Formats: sequence, structure tokens, C-alpha cells
Amino acid sequence: MTGTITDRSSEELRGRIAAELDRTRARTAVLTDAVDDDDLVRQHSSLMSPLVWDLAHVGNQEELWLVRDVGGREPVRRDIDDLYDAFKQPRRDRPALPLLPPDQARAYVATVREKVYDLLDRVAFDSRRLVADGFAFGMIVQHEQQHDETMLATHQLRAGPAVLQAPPPPEPARPVPGEVLVPAGRFVMGTDTDPWALDNERPAHQVDLPAYVIDAAPVTNGAYRAFIADGGYDDPRWWTEAGWRHRRRAGLSAPMHWRRDGDGWAYRRFGRWDQVRDDEPVVHVGYHEAQAYAAWAGKRLPSEAEWEKAARWDPATGRSRRYPWGDDEPTSAHANLGQRHLRPAPVGAYPAGASPLGVHQLIGDVWEWTSTPFRGHPGFAAFPYREYSEVFFGDDHQVLRGGSFGTDRAACRGTFRNWDYPIRRQIFSGFRCARDADPDQAHR
Ligand code: AVJ
Ligand code: FE
Repeated sequence: MTGTITDRSSEELRGRIAAELDRTRARTAVLTDAVDDDDLVRQHSSLMSPLVWDLAHVGNQEELWLVRDVGGREPVRRDIDDLYDAFKQPRRDRPALPLLPPDQARAYVATVREKVYDLLDRVAFDSRRLVADGFAFGMIVQHEQQHDETMLATHQLRAGPAVLQAPPPPEPARPVPGEVLVPAGRFVMGTDTDPWALDNERPAHQVDLPAYVIDAAPVTNGAYRAFIADGGYDDPRWWTEAGWRHRRRAGLSAPMHWRRDGDGWAYRRFGRWDQVRDDEPVVHVGYHEAQAYAAWAGKRLPSEAEWEKAARWDPATGRSRRYPWGDDEPTSAHANLGQRHLRPAPVGAYPAGASPLGVHQLIGDVWEWTSTPFRGHPGFAAFPYREYSEVFFGDDHQVLRGGSFGTDRAACRGTFRNWDYPIRRQIFSGFRCARDADPDQAHR
């Protein structure tokens, strides 16, 4: 039967998957071709893998899930599974492993990809959950994009001259208000319908929140500088006990990659020193720093549910949407995503990306720390493997939301959940503040 609606839509899906796989592999190539072989196998920080590990790990996951699991084909290389298993090999030990050298790693990922294209031509997107709507392909695209962001963070930690280039982000188009009131009431958090949403974004469920106030934009360098200048790093009043202990042990005094520059601050990004720009969201701060800043400012961090309601709830319909601006995929007018620019954009640069209530830059620019530890939504069920998110549930990791300038649109949406240790700041992490609504505001 040719020409039926079903055939046409599965052809359309095949084409869309192929385009996403290509686009993603082109980004991986930019990140791995920018440096020489010596640089690819070196460990630039004990927090990170050598870039060549990420490259072959991406290929190995693609082989495991698509070639072997979905395709039922013979392994391309069974002998390397353990080397590229993130749970068997801690990051700091990865450089000492007998890894595939760069030429072999590139050949390996190319061979796997050829088999995946062959499989994509034949696969039936039937009702099996792994293949319905192309889920396993979407999961693998997102996995590669997540490692691309990790490789971008490795580039930021790497010493030596700049090798990555990108144009600056847009300038502010209009002023952004300070805060926005979100009225009390229920909203739907999470999703049952987004076809490539990962297990931890599911299921959709109602959450009832009291009225609250949330910053209309992420906290900027200028505001953060005022916290530093006011002695915020030296005053235990603003820090939690664990935060203060970490602040002292690690000797924190400013965001990662900052140094004093005369009266001001300079910031090293991707091998270049820049002046710290006051209207740009602060990036490379840990959860403890975000929490301390919020306390100093007389506010608090938003809970994860508060972040998601601000990002998805449409007051006109009461419905939760995929993005702050609606259900349409992000374009370059909506958000600073996908390494299109190598820095967060100044506040006000994306008016088309604002939510109906007027909250800006929720998607892109910087990952935003929330006050919520990473757990499953009520009714969570691991799929297709516990090691994607379930094994990280508990009090050790805090949720981050919204994606950064280094996050691809395929791995970013209003329901997408990231998590990390509260001390982490090599990721592209920033934050915005929130507070309880004043009693008179709450009853408008
Ligand atoms: C969702 C970003 C926390 O990189 O540790 C990559 C994504 N999981 N490979 C990570 C992931 C397996 C994960 N984060
Ligand atoms: Fe991985």
C-alpha cells in the first residue's frame, strides 16, 4: 500500500530523523575537528573525559540502542562496550584506558552511522514503545547532543588559544521588567504526548501552586557583581551550611573563569579574555552560589514546578505548552541555543521567546538551578533504561532547567530536565530568583 497517509507520515518521519542525525553529527565534527589528535586524547580537566572518549561513546550508545536493540543486527564491535560504559569508567580514569585512537574512533562512529541509515530505511515505526514515533532515534539524537554540550564544556576548560568561532548574540531589543507575578492555581507539569520526551519528563500530572513572583530574566553579571562587591562570598549568613563548607573548602570568590581586571572583572571564554558584560546572564556558578545570591537579594530560587509553570502555563487557555512562546519548535528568534553563539545573550535579546506572562529567556542562554532535588514525577517509570535518570534520583543532584547557549533544540523543551551536583560549575549554569507573592498580590 503506497500513498496512504500512514506511509506518507512515516516517510516524513524518516526524513526528519535523517536530518536530525546529520545536523547533530555535523556539530560533533565541529567540536572534534577543531583540535589536533594530541588534544583529542588529552584530559583537559579531571572533571571531563578526553574528547575522543565522548566521540566513541556516542557511537557505542548508537550501536547498542539502534544497531543491536532496534535493528537486531550483529555488533559492530562488542569488544569496546566496557570502555565506553560511563558507569564502569569514572571520568578521571578515562584517559588511562586503551581507547580507540582518533582515526579509529572516527571510523567506528561512521560505520555505526551507515548501519543506522540502512536500518532507518527499513524500520517500521509500529506501536512498540521503543520505535513508536521514532523514539529510539530521537533518544540517540538527544544523547549525542548532550555529549556535544559536554564537549563544549571541555572546550571551555581547555587551555591554549581559541579554536571555536561564532558571531555574538543579538543585542537587547527592549527593556525587560524586573519580576512577574504568577497567579495561584493548578497547571499540568510534565508530558504524556511529546514523542521524544525522555522518561523523567513523564507522566503529565497536575500541580497546584500558591501565587509566586519570578524574575523576568536570569540574574545578570552586573547584579552578581554587586553581590561580590557587597562581600557576599565572605558572609555565612547568605549560605546554607553545606554551601558555606563548600565555599570555604573550594576557596570560591567569583564565578568560574572570572579574574579581577583593574576595578572590574574579566572572563575567559573558549580561549579569549573578555570584559564581563553587566547585562549578560551570569554563567558558571554552582547551586550553592545561586542559593547564596538569592538569599542576599532577599529572594530564593524557584522550585522546579515554579520554573515550569512560568515557562509553560498559558493563562488564556489554562493549557501547558511545549515552550514559553507556544508549541512551535525554537527558531533563532526565540532563544539562544545550539552553540549558534558562544555566550549567553544580554537580557532582552529574545522578546519573541517570552512567555505570555512576560518571563524572558527561560529557554537557552544558561541552565537555571532550581531548589528541587532530582526525583521522578509521580508515576515515573524508567524507560528504556534505569541508568538514564532513575539511578540519579535522590538528594545528591539538583534540577536545572531551560538549556544553555550550548544546548541543542532537540535536547531542550519546557519539560526537559537536567540535573547535577550542587558544586558543579563547569556546566553552563546560571539561575533566576523567585519569591512568595505578597499577601495583597496573591488575592488579586
Ligand atoms: C542529563 C546531562 C545529566 O551528561 O550526565 C549523557 C546526559 N546521560 N549520557 C549527562 C547523559 C548519558 C546527562 N545529563
Ligand atoms: Fe552518554
